[in-house]
Amino acid sequence: MTAAVIEGLTSYAERLRRRSLGGRARKVLRGLRLRFAFGLIEAAFHVAKAGGRPYQPVEIGGRRFANVRDTDERWHAVAKVLRDYGVKNVLDIGCAEGWFVRRAAADLNLFAIGIEATDVGIVGELARLHDRVPRAAVARAFVTPEAIRGLPQFDAVLCLSVLHHMIRGFGLGVAERFLQVLATRVSKILVFEIGTASESSWTEFLPEQSQGQEAFVRELLERAGFRNVRVITESAAYHREVQRLLFTAEPAKAANQETLKQLEVA
Ligand SMILES: C[S@@+](CC[C@H](N)C(=O)[O-])C[C@H]1O[C@@H](n2cnc3c(N)ncnc32)[C@H](O)[C@@H]1O
Repeated sequence: MTAAVIEGLTSYAERLRRRSLGGRARKVLRGLRLRFAFGLIEAAFHVAKAGGRPYQPVEIGGRRFANVRDTDERWHAVAKVLRDYGVKNVLDIGCAEGWFVRRAAADLNLFAIGIEATDVGIVGELARLHDRVPRAAVARAFVTPEAIRGLPQFDAVLCLSVLHHMIRGFGLGVAERFLQVLATRVSKILVFEIGTASESSWTEFLPEQSQGQEAFVRELLERAGFRNVRVITESAAYHREVQRLLFTAEPAKAANQETLKQLEVA
């Protein structure tokens, strides 16, 4: 579907009305109210951002703010996967400012939902609201294996640099359970990234990866119910000490109620 066709579908044709003076005045007032509302959103954006550099890029009114982590390289790799798999909707767990949510909705016309545990999501959400990005939203929630059960299935799920937080907070067992339940929510493809034990801030929390990052993640994902694990790109970790690999994996089998029940009993 071309952009022009999509644009045409987003609104019904306006009904032709006789233009009265009152009608014109109401239109001007509506425009002023809208401009005032966008001004408030932009002011709230600057307060929420508080001058800090976000993890992901944020764009508002055509201006893009610099961020800490590489996201362009990763987005190009993710976008190719979403296209190749014919994805129509995507869930981004631990989406931070929601840059991938925005790109998926704006560039690929997907319905894109992000989930973020902290307030950082607000900055991206204000920017998306201001720029009227359609088909995108971010929910504030702390995702646990139990919380994942409440989610519907998505064609694609992104879980990028989140699982090491889970391992640090609750241990490897809970993190593996998180992935097992997540496998039941992915209908086509998971895109996955995790911090490494070679990053000084994570060494004490993550299991040693004696066979290397790729072998560790491959085994982790396969144990959790994924197959066809592939490396699609790599990018510098937060402190730029090492490269983090970006993986894709398919769910090993179609999830059904029986699989979910077994996970509940375990
Ligand atoms: C290192 S950042 C990665 C952000 C983004 N996924 C990326 O790769 O660019 C991890 C993000 O996940 C969020 N997070 C960590 N654990 C989470 C959980 N259990 N539920 C929801 N968000 C979580 C953190 O607040 C943080 O914003």
